[in-house]
Order: sequence, then structure tokens, then C-alpha cells
Amino acid sequence: MSASAASVVDLAALSFQPPAPAPQPKPLGAFRLITSLWRNPLECWAQEHFDKPIVVGGLPFAHVVLVSEPRSIEHVLLDNAGNYRKDALQRRVLSAGLGHGLLSAEGEQWRIQRRTVAPVFARKTIMDFAPLMLAATEALVARWRQQDGATLDVAAEMTRLTLDVLERTIFSDGLGRAAEEFRLAMRTYFDTIGRIDPFDVIGLPPAVPRFAHWRVRSTLRFFEDAINDIIATRRRRMAAAPDAVAKDILTLLLNALDPETGKGMAEIEVRSNILTFIAAGHETTANLLSWSLFLLSQAPEWRERVEAEAEYALHGALATLGDRLVETRAVIDEAARLYPPIAAISRVALGPDELAGTKVKRGSLVVIAPYVLHRHRLLWREPNSFDPTRFLGEARHAIDRYAYIPFGAGARTCIGSVFAVQEATLVLATIVKNFRLDLAPGTSVWPLLRVTLRPDNGLPMVITQRHAA
Ligand code: HEM
Repeated sequence: MSASAASVVDLAALSFQPPAPAPQPKPLGAFRLITSLWRNPLECWAQEHFDKPIVVGGLPFAHVVLVSEPRSIEHVLLDNAGNYRKDALQRRVLSAGLGHGLLSAEGEQWRIQRRTVAPVFARKTIMDFAPLMLAATEALVARWRQQDGATLDVAAEMTRLTLDVLERTIFSDGLGRAAEEFRLAMRTYFDTIGRIDPFDVIGLPPAVPRFAHWRVRSTLRFFEDAINDIIATRRRRMAAAPDAVAKDILTLLLNALDPETGKGMAEIEVRSNILTFIAAGHETTANLLSWSLFLLSQAPEWRERVEAEAEYALHGALATLGDRLVETRAVIDEAARLYPPIAAISRVALGPDELAGTKVKRGSLVVIAPYVLHRHRLLWREPNSFDPTRFLGEARHAIDRYAYIPFGAGARTCIGSVFAVQEATLVLATIVKNFRLDLAPGTSVWPLLRVTLRPDNGLPMVITQRHAA
């Protein structure tokens, strides 16, 4: 029997409302919109965005349609996806280093790249990564045991851990440089490039230099040098002993051939993809873990339940571990609902369309914001409350596929979603089994959007060992 079935406590009654900006009473005017987008885009949403299925209006230079109606989301991301492409604003924000990678590529370039790296993300391969994910977590546990009772920045700890997981799995030679250098460089990159530039909001052409792109130049040089080293080391190893080299992301990218031209992937695509997988593959999962640990620290009954589940589930066959960590997974899903690491997805319409009676023009910016959708009043009961029971048993099956999209949907859905969920579940259970984490006294937690949704100023928590080693 699962821990949930044995429950005699009404878990839904134990919900609380975690911190989030109160929606603006009315949509913001142009000036306040630009300053809020720069400071923290989460603060831009108005009450009507959480009340209405579709809202038109917004940026000064574009016809913006915010869509929070599941059938219309399905239409944009799946049924009529050919009419939409990643929008110029998102592409400009990402273009500094990721422009030619899977996240931003379009058309044939995207199709070839997606097909090339798909084998690394097949379910079976991800299952085989479980022992490596656990080994990285055990290393963290061993390190934390030396710091029993200390206050640590758990957000930074989670980014270190998820980078370590990437190094042990999809970049099997490691990242070459000290992971800490990568972590800090990625943080600088997200902090600068991840701010929505007023020049982008008012629609100035890309030729007009952006301050953030200028500031981020030295960080991009660091990435370029590090990636050059990674590629050179792997090429040497491939030349020396081709059969001994792991079939990881790097091998697939370097060996990929265009089926039509027979040519290898362009060097710039290989580089952009290495950066894409480092960028997309660790901050997101790290944030999801940070939010899960924070939420558990505020919900003692849930923390006890996850502790009990982890004690029981972390023994036994790895293959069925996922089936035993049901409540742990529900906490992660609820964290991804309240604090979706990718808080907004956007597309530009290539031609006219209609969404639930609302006209979309050619060139309209269509925004689907998991942050808004997941807290929408028409779709969720007590949308701002922490209540993992939404993701247990029958309740989970009742959720519309297009009302809950932390990993997006359709052809451009996250390629790393199975990887991320498996990693987050194993890490959360292992940490909770070994440690109790409490928010450091005097800390106030606030969500900040900078490419990903993370706790502003980190997450200082006191870590206390639950059992002696
Ligand atoms: C909690 C963790 C994660 C979240 C919430 C997340 C979320 C997302 C979302 C929402 C998209 C779709 C964006 C759009 O449609 O515009 C996406 C795409 C993508 N994600 Fe993730 N992601 C996570 C983890 C990962 C991991 C672990 C990897 C790789 C190791 C990864 C690699 C990618 C890539 C390459 C794409 C682009 C896919 C394409 O366009 O074909 N993500 N992710």
C-alpha cells in the first residue's frame, strides 16, 4: 500500500499560500510595464490575466494575446503549430549564445538537431542514468554531513548538484573547467541576458546594440573557450579510440550528418547546442528542487510524509523506484505548478488565426504563461495554495493536459522532461531522507524571473542531519 492510501490525514486541508506577487488590479500602462519587465516580469500580471481565458493587449510594439484556455493552447502548440514560431523577442534574448541550438532553431535545422539528440533522451537511456543521478546526490549528502547544522544557500547547492548530474550523464567526460566556474558564468549570463531589455520591448531593431549583450561579452568568451576545450578533447579521444567513446550528447553532435547533404553539423550549431544543454539542463531542474525544498520546509506534515515515503522507497529495485515515490513526485509537480521554472512560452503568428473567438493577426505575439495558467481561477481550485493532493490518484488524471504545461507541449516540448523529473524525484527523496531543511531565520523568499523562475537572493536554509551516517 502506498503511503498516500494509508493516510488518515486530510492532506488537502493542510494547504498554505506560498509567496507570490499580488496581481495588479488593472493592466499596467506602458512605462510601468517596461520597468516591471526589467525588474521582475512576474510583477506585470494583472488580475484579469488570472480570471479570463484569453486577454489581448500588452506590449507597446506588438499585438499580444495571452492564452490560458487549454483547447487554444493545444491549437497553438500542437494542432496548428505550423502557423507559429518562436518569437523575435525570445530569440533576441537568447541569441547571444544559444541562437543556433535546439531551443531556438526553426524548420529543418531544428528537425535535424532534435532527431540527432533524441537517443540520449529516450526513456530507457534516462533509466540507465538513475544510478549516476543517485551517485551525484550521495556525493552531496556526504559533503553536507560534514556541515551538519550549517546554513547553506540551497539554491546554489542545487545548481552545483544538477551540473554534477549533467557531467556524469550527458557530458560524460565532464565539462573540463571547474563546474563552479560554469555555474557562476551561467548565473552572470542569465542575470544579464535574462532581463527583458526596454529596447526589445519597444521593438528597436536587433542592429541597435543591447547593453546586456555588451555586458555579457566576457562571459560568452569564457563559454567559447571552455566549449572549444570540450570539443578539442573529445575530438582527440574520438580519433585515438573511436569505439571507446561514450555515445553521449557530444558524440552525437560531432558525428551528426545531415541526411540530405551528408555534411556534419556546422561548428556553430555544435557549440550553441553544448551551451543550450548546459543552460537548459541544470538551472531549470535546480530551481524546481529549490522550490520543492522550500515548500516542504513550510509544510511540516508534507515534509513528514515525504520523509516516510523516502525511508521506505529508497530501498529496493531502481526500476520501480518511480512507482514508489508517488508523494515525492506529487510535491515536485505541485512545485512546478506554483513556480514553473520556465514561466512563459511565446510564439509569433505567421498568419491569421482564431483562438476561442479571439482574432490573432499575422505577427501577433502569442504568450502562453505556465505561471499564469497554473494559477488560473477557471482551471484550479484554490490556485495559489500549496496542495500536492492535486497530483495524487484520480485527481491527477482529471487535470487537462493543456492546463498544466511546465515542460511545454507539442513538437517543441522539453526534450529533457523525463530526465528532469527523474532527477528531481531521486534527488528530493534522497535529500529529505537524510536531512531536514529549515529556512534560515529572518529569510524572506521571493520568486524572481530571469530566464528561469528562482528564489531571489538564493535560499539560505539550515541543514540538519536526520540519521547518523
Ligand atoms: C524542471 C526542468 C525543466 C523545465 C521546467 C523545462 C522546461 C522547458 C520548456 C517549457 C520548454 C519548451 C519551450 C518552448 O516551447 O518554447 C523546454 C524546451 C527544451 N528543454 Fe527543457 N526544461 C527542463 C529541463 C530540461 C533538461 C534537463 C534539458 C536537457 C538536459 C532540457 C532541454 C531542453 C531543450 C533542448 C529544449 C528545446 C526543445 C526543442 O525546441 O525541441 N530541459 N524546456
